Formats: sequence, C-alpha cells, structure tokens
Amino acid sequence: MRVLSGIQPSGRLHIGNYFGAIRQHISMQRGNDCFYFIADYHALTSNPSPKDVATFTLDVAMDYIALGLDIEKTIFWRQSDVPEVTELTWLLSCVTPKGLLERCTSYKDKVAQGISPNHGLFAYPVLQAADILIYKSNVVPVGADQKQHIEVTRDIAGYFNNTYGEIFVLPEDHIIESVAVVPGVDGRKMSKSYKNTIEMFEPEKSIKSKVMKIVTDSTPVESPKDPDKCNVFALLKLFASPEEIKQWDERYRKGGMGYGEAKKRLAELIVEYFGPFRQKRTELESNPDYVKQMLAKGAHRARAIAAKTLAEARKAVGLGEYYGR
Ligand code: ADP
Ligand code: TRP
Repeated sequence: MRVLSGIQPSGRLHIGNYFGAIRQHISMQRGNDCFYFIADYHALTSNPSPKDVATFTLDVAMDYIALGLDIEKTIFWRQSDVPEVTELTWLLSCVTPKGLLERCTSYKDKVAQGISPNHGLFAYPVLQAADILIYKSNVVPVGADQKQHIEVTRDIAGYFNNTYGEIFVLPEDHIIESVAVVPGVDGRKMSKSYKNTIEMFEPEKSIKSKVMKIVTDSTPVESPKDPDKCNVFALLKLFASPEEIKQWDERYRKGGMGYGEAKKRLAELIVEYFGPFRQKRTELESNPDYVKQMLAKGAHRARAIAAKTLAEARKAVGLGEYYGR
C-alpha cells in the first residue's frame, strides 16, 4: 500500500501531534511504502515569518527522524522541494468547481474566526489534492479534521479522470482514531495556535513546570475527584501502564490525593516516554546539514515520481510537448 501524509511546519510539534498523528505515521512504516512530507507551501497560507518557515521545517524533520522515521525506507521530504506539485495544482484547479471549495469546513471555520482569507487559503484543498494525486497514493492517514479534504481530493480526481482519461488513483482516507483530543495545559485542545502545548523535546525542567501549571478544578485534597473530568488524568492515560491508570483512577475517586501528586508523576512519565528519542534529537540538532541532506535525498526520490505523473497529466490536457524548457 502506498501511504502518504503531510504535516505543516506551523510551530514546534507537541504531544497532541504525537498521539494524534506522528505515532501512527511511524507505525504504518511497517508493511507499507510510506511518503511523508513537511507541508511548507501550505504553511504559507497563514503568512508566517520567513525565519519561522525555515526553523520549524527543520524542527519537524528532526522530530520525525528522532521519533523513528526510517530514512532509508520511507520517502521524507519538504513539499516545496518538489515544485511539480504546484503545476499540478493549476491543472487540477481548472477542473475544480468553485462551489466545492466554498463548502470546505476548515476554510469556512477560519473565515468565521475573522481571518481575512487569501486565495491560497481558499485553494488549499486543491494543493492538498495535488500532493496526494501526484504520488498516486492509496491511503492517506489524517486526523478527523482532514477527512473532508480527502473527499474533495477524490472529487477532483474524478472530475479530471472523467474529462481527460484515467490518470489518477482515487485515495482512501484512513482516519487516525486519535486517543480522543489531547488537552493542552489550559484544558482546551492542545494546539500550536493556542500556545498551550507541551513539546516532546523541550527541556525537562520546562516540561515539569508546564505540567505543574495544568488547569485543574479546586476540589480540596481530601475530597473524591472525577478522573474523567481532569486534564491531568487525560494525559496520564496516554503515558501510564494500564495497571497504573487503574490505580490513579481509584485514588482520584477515593479522595485524599492532591492534583500536585498526579502532576509530578505525569511529568516523570512524559520525560521517561520520550527519553530514548531525546538523545537522537540532540544529535540531529547539532548536525542540521545531515538533516538537510536527508530531506534532499527524499526530495530527489519524490521528485522522480512527481515528474512522471505531471508529464501524464500535462499530456492528457494537451500540454504534452514542452516548447521552452
Ligand atoms: P495544531 O493544532 O497544533 O496546529 P495541526 O492542526 O498542525 O496541529 O495538526 C497536525 C496533526 O496533529 C493533525 O493530524 C491533527 O489531527 C493532530 N493533532 C493536533 N492537535 C491534536 C490534539 N490536541 N489531539 C490529538 N491530535 C491532534
Ligand atoms: N492539511 C494537512 C493538515 O493541516 C496537511 C497536509 C497537506 C496533508 N497536504 C497533505 C495531509 C496531503 C495529508 C495529505 O494537517
């Protein structure tokens, strides 16, 4: 199976991204041909500073490699190193009804939040369709929020194939059953845009101080507490063994336990969980040129495939012959 997914370099990755996406991306490497890329063209739709685009791209690459991305087997690259995808975006745009994009909920949500949309944000799903179709991907593992974009991709592939012949493979989505939504330190969904994240590889001291600040209610130490309403417990469930989770569940319900105690244990568990990957992350940080070389190698492999599909699509629409390249 050809598996493809992308992640935007819109900030430093956090444990919500890990449990909601990265962990599954890593584990799907077994038994599949995986294509993962850093979606820097997509990130431009929110106009980040040029410095952030470059820094976060390398950060994401280092995180993935440290967390177990198999650089030999999996094709891993930066989206903008394969510019063919933007040319295919144009060919696809010309068969995409405007109304299809107007119905996209992630676009409508951003507009409802008061963001004044640029054309890139509106056309974002067409670029995503080009990402998927140019590599003839069968399966696209994404969070539930991206499901509609995969449906749109199938629609666009269908319009193109019906008009010009069977060039594209219709992908399946594979919704990552994320361990519910991982809460951030303020209790809202952990998200780069809320600045409430705990990063996998931030200094241990900083992980501890963030965990100690997780919002809890004001139930006194001696009173029973409802673990299912507690942000600390929601995070403990991701890291502790089933036996330990059961013990915390009982201790919450019995009373006599302060949230501080659970937080201390949670901080320990987070540090322990990412400990084995931390050394690799530190090594990569001290050798960014190696990371860039790995991305270049991935781009080279990806580009060979992309160029072939683009040539097929150009030919199908009547632009087969290049006069000027
Ligand atoms: P962010 O909200 O931090 O900007 P993205 O929207 O870039 O994160 O998400 C990248 C991936 O991580 C997506 O597949 C998304 O479903 C997943 N993800 C992000 N935040 C969480 C969370 N709090 N819980 C579970 N999964 C998440
Ligand atoms: N839009 C996706 C997100 O924000 C990232 C992405 C870009 C993507 N291109 C893709 C995901 C292609 C899957 C396939 O999470």
